[in-house]
Amino acid sequence: MHSEPLARPAPIANDEFAARRERLMAELPEGSAVLLPGATLKTRNHDSDYPFRQQSDFHYLCGFPEPDALLVLLPGRDAGEAVLYCQEKDPEKEAWTGIRIGPEGAVRDYGLDEAFDNTELETLSELLDGRHTLYLPLADAQAMALADDVRGELSARARRGAVAPTSFADISPLIHELRLTKSEAELALMRHAGEISALAHCRAMRASRPGRYEYQLQAEIEHEFVWHGARAPAYGTIVGGGANACVLHYVENGARLADGDLVLIDAGGEFDLYAGDITRTFPVNGRFTPSQRALYDVVLAAEERAVAAVRPGTTLAALHQGVVRDLTAGLIELGLLEGELEACLEAEAYRRFYLHSTSHWLGLDVHDVGRYKVEGESRSLEPGMVLTIEPGLYIPDADDIPVAFRGIGIRIEDDVVVTAEGGEVLTAKVPKSADAIEALMQAAD
Ligand code: GLY
Ligand code: MN
Ligand code: MN
Repeated sequence: MHSEPLARPAPIANDEFAARRERLMAELPEGSAVLLPGATLKTRNHDSDYPFRQQSDFHYLCGFPEPDALLVLLPGRDAGEAVLYCQEKDPEKEAWTGIRIGPEGAVRDYGLDEAFDNTELETLSELLDGRHTLYLPLADAQAMALADDVRGELSARARRGAVAPTSFADISPLIHELRLTKSEAELALMRHAGEISALAHCRAMRASRPGRYEYQLQAEIEHEFVWHGARAPAYGTIVGGGANACVLHYVENGARLADGDLVLIDAGGEFDLYAGDITRTFPVNGRFTPSQRALYDVVLAAEERAVAAVRPGTTLAALHQGVVRDLTAGLIELGLLEGELEACLEAEAYRRFYLHSTSHWLGLDVHDVGRYKVEGESRSLEPGMVLTIEPGLYIPDADDIPVAFRGIGIRIEDDVVVTAEGGEVLTAKVPKSADAIEALMQAAD
């Protein structure tokens, strides 16, 4: 059964892309330029490609959706600061793989100042003549090779007056700091990605039955994503039944779901390149056992407290420390840790059951960009930042663990925007209390 279609948020407007480029260029020293390649198609096998997904920094600065494009920013250039190279128009190729936007379309539809096709790449060195510093992603071998070529060409023409760049600098951290704070238009897309992802988790809860396979719940999740226009998962969907939930990045999704087990689903849809990232853990048969529920409630309490603590001025480290304290207290109460709370915290005894951090930034990338520390200190949250809260407990199947807890993995994850007053949860439409999950699952039976 299909859920009701949702109203689509507006895509990012050309004016906003242009304003981002302006903000970036305002940070660069005079006489510099930016070279930023987009993504290329990758062969999957023989003549099949992986689905194309634009490079996030490139998308952030121009929204141009095709492979093999190059954005060049030339601050202060009278003939236009934003130049694009893109795939050439080619009727024969377009008959196979679809209409190409081409240079004219890039200027007309994407608000770029000037565009060339990739057969005209020799014009690049002319554009960059006299720019002393080239800013580019230093980790991108293709960008580095291109910049080296440009430097070589301009150096070779030095006697005819060409001026080659004298240094290369990394553009990535500058773009990443801009990406960390989301605009209203970006938040609208992220709300939508969060809502679609929440509906997908509800659908998987309704479809769960003992005897089904993990990949069948993956199918329910990904059906809901695509049905709502989130055309791809933002990362590999994780469906882990029983002890598979303890494998943090489990993606095999091939096992049968057993009666009496929990299943952990970590899945988020990508809408207009923005990620949702939700984890829910629920009983395969719709009813928590007492020990599952006891452990679940420890994770839930930690998660809810951390979500409520999101506000400007707090830090990811403070949120994580709160979670660690709550989980440790819960583990002591359940007899999974022994000793006093402070002593257990001092010894970091929780690490046997909780290995990962509580949060990461979220945006165009699921583990989004932007620094986590500033001057060695955990960064303070500011309005417009988006983060996940995702505590978990993963109980090993070991002799010293009470049998009822062995092999249980639980994680609960929501996406939160920092607002002026606190936090806005983007993923609230999927239940998370044990009672609410049981009610949803039983209503589906
Ligand atoms: N799905 C990856 C993560 O939650 O960080
Ligand atoms: Mn996450
Ligand atoms: Mn996740």
